[in-house]
Amino acid sequence: MTNATPQRILVIHGPNLNLLGKRDPTLYGSETLEQINARLAAIGHDLGFDVVCKQSNIEGDIVELVHSARGAFGGIVINPAGYSHTSVVIRDALLAVGIPAVEVHLSNLYAREEFRRVSLTGAVTRGVVSGFKSGSYEWGLRALIQIIEGK
Ligand code: DQA
Repeated sequence: MTNATPQRILVIHGPNLNLLGKRDPTLYGSETLEQINARLAAIGHDLGFDVVCKQSNIEGDIVELVHSARGAFGGIVINPAGYSHTSVVIRDALLAVGIPAVEVHLSNLYAREEFRRVSLTGAVTRGVVSGFKSGSYEWGLRALIQIIEGK
């Protein structure tokens, strides 16, 4: 059977990621969020997936975005940013929707402050990619597509 309607993937960027490009490039790289989103859309397109990217600085909005994925998206790539280390509600939302999710981080959480080593949200995703700057998003997207395709 051909896949006439491309499957959809939701990419959620958390707080302060709208500042990428200006924000500490040694940790986060020099690409802007728009450049990262364009790259993800191109990779998704090549693999037969529509990639929809959203960013919010507000915890409740991220919860709403996760909820919006139910029935509408085959999977979620999420960088909850600072909320990774604190947010029980985003974690609960990811658990509640039951859609495969992959967490990504531009920086290497294990090479930074101790409080960043725990991700409440990452623990309920299928896996976490951390430390490859914008490449983390690319590998996270490719991993999610493999999960969706059952490989
Ligand atoms: C981040 C890591 C978080 O600890 C931090 O609060 C961020 C970005 C990353 O992508 O490396 O804002 O999620």
